[in-house]
Amino acid sequence: MKKKLLITGASGKVGWSLTKRLRETGRYEIAATDLEADEAKEIAALDMTDAEQVRRAARGVDTVLHIGWAEDEEDFLGKVLPVNVTGAYHIYEAAREAGVRRVVFASSNHATGFYSSEESVGPEDPYRPDSFYGLSKCYIELLGRLYADKHGLSSFNVRIGNYPGDRPPASERAMKIWISERDLASLFVCCIEADPSIDFLSLYGTSANLENYYDIGYLKELIGYVPQDDAAELREEAERLYGGLKNDDTPLQGGGYASR
Ligand SMILES: NC(=O)c1ccc[n+]([C@@H]2O[C@H](COP(=O)([O-])OP(=O)(O)OC[C@H]3O[C@@H](n4cnc5c(N)ncnc54)[C@H](O)[C@@H]3O)[C@@H](O)[C@H]2O)c1
Repeated sequence: MKKKLLITGASGKVGWSLTKRLRETGRYEIAATDLEADEAKEIAALDMTDAEQVRRAARGVDTVLHIGWAEDEEDFLGKVLPVNVTGAYHIYEAAREAGVRRVVFASSNHATGFYSSEESVGPEDPYRPDSFYGLSKCYIELLGRLYADKHGLSSFNVRIGNYPGDRPPASERAMKIWISERDLASLFVCCIEADPSIDFLSLYGTSANLENYYDIGYLKELIGYVPQDDAAELREEAERLYGGLKNDDTPLQGGGYASR
């Protein structure tokens, strides 16, 4: 039987790319959702701040891909907290109640953005969020830890690097953390299909970039992720398109988010 996936934020950049690619595999039954319905894309309405809606959507689901997000660094109390943090709580709580097997959460490199660009960082290193955005990712990752430990809900946190959609990476920093559309889809499939005994995992999600802030080679053995693309192959195209690559204004991995 096909695994049923619930995808939140399916109209967004990451969510739509995953929805398209995962549909193409034919392997899954997919419930794609976003704040507003989109008939043409077969996306249903689901507001993740509404506990009852989320509870209904989680029934019969094997894996939740929690991608939905409202980004507003200037509005922690009005946006980050009620939409992202409380919304994530509704997702994990509904998943627990419905007996969902695994939640794969779209976390971010900004959970560790205050590390220097000279350092290589791994998921075992302490959090160093560079923003309220990054801080809320740390909280939600730990929400996953709690639900894994306490309720046996397998929780994966994919700290996505930079996914600019169908455009090449636009800055020197983005070149080091870029992930292509096909690698993004392949990584999420690896997370969905990873050994059921892995109850908790945080990992960085990038392509096989020649220069990379993260060592991701171990993911091949752990979950079978073998990225195919390298941002370096897009450098010329990016320089032509943007008239040169932007240089980031801090020597920190979080780039602009880490500016004080
Ligand atoms: N794109 C990147 O480079 C990147 C990098 C690191 C992490 N991420 C993470 O990936 C996720 C998706 O990023 P994106 O770039 O696709 O963002 P996006 O803004 O394009 O998509 C977010 C989607 O969430 C939806 N949403 C907002 N409020 C909602 C609500 N209350 N209920 C349901 N859906 C709601 C929006 O309508 C939107 O379609 C985010 O969690 C982000 O932190 C993205």
